[in-house]
Amino acid sequence: MSNESVEAYLARRAEEVNASLARLVPADDVPPATIHKAMRYSLLAGGKRLRPALVISAGEALGAKAEKLLPAACAVEMIHTYSLIHDDLPAMDDDDLRRGRPTCHKVFGEAVAILAGDALLTRAFEVLSSQEAAPDAERRLLLVRELSAAAGPVDALIGGQVVDLESEGKPVTAATLEYIHRAKTGALLRASVVMGGIVAGATAEQQVKLHTYGEKIGLAFQIADDVLDLTATAEQLGKTPGKDVAVGKATYPAVHGIEASRAMALKMISEACAAVQDLGKGAEILTALARFVVARVS
Ligand code: IPE
Ligand code: IPE
Ligand code: MG
Ligand code: MG
Ligand code: MG
Repeated sequence: MSNESVEAYLARRAEEVNASLARLVPADDVPPATIHKAMRYSLLAGGKRLRPALVISAGEALGAKAEKLLPAACAVEMIHTYSLIHDDLPAMDDDDLRRGRPTCHKVFGEAVAILAGDALLTRAFEVLSSQEAAPDAERRLLLVRELSAAAGPVDALIGGQVVDLESEGKPVTAATLEYIHRAKTGALLRASVVMGGIVAGATAEQQVKLHTYGEKIGLAFQIADDVLDLTATAEQLGKTPGKDVAVGKATYPAVHGIEASRAMALKMISEACAAVQDLGKGAEILTALARFVVARVS
């Protein structure tokens, strides 16, 4: 890491992750071809691969080999991509552009997009429960539990999406807003870091540190996403900016203003870095990834 920029590190990890993902999802011509085409269309469309990079760097920080962390990293990315496909559906955020291309439902229709999301969600747990995901059954079970809880309704992805949708066009309290962001986005980022720890066989004490780090970067990440919706271009984002204001989404800039949102995200990133400071050499890349989360808005 020392001589490598965080962008170069992410690009290197993305290459490994993309190669694994391409192997883990059936080829375009496996019948029924439509569903495999739709899954691959959204999954292999680019994306920063931040969550897989977090799985790998957290695991590596505790001494696991990157190649052993790839199945868990890919499972998280499958859940993330499923959540994006569904998030973009007309019944949810109704978006036309994702990862620089037309959204899944624009190309394959709503029914196939829903099923492609379902298929990625399901495949993630098949991958996670396979022998390759962790050396022993107990760790595989912990991985399945961590990821399923983060993707679920209680203080997690689905719960956050529900409150996000219910809050559209309404005033929200700072507490509800924080709940939405921690749940819809923070939970999966936190789980990514914790899953790296599980594969590596982290001690309870190490897991507390990873958990704290993951929570803080998770919330900061969604605050940054809200700010970018106001400040970045479609070309930079690969998605349509300005949508949050247009539909009255509950966002940090809407409730706290842009400057205060930036400051809150930066503070959380400092706290995240402090939490993993004494993890040794591996803390270096976790710190760099945390800074990357807010680099685009600071
Ligand atoms: C977008 O996530 C959705 C949010 C949770 C804010 P990313 O910004 O990580 O999207 P990709 O994976 O790089 O496309
Ligand atoms: C996405 O939040 C959260 C999930 C997909 C779970 P957003 O709706 O803000 O994400 P973008 O801006 O469409 O990527
Ligand atoms: Mg949304
Ligand atoms: Mg959206
Ligand atoms: Mg957004």
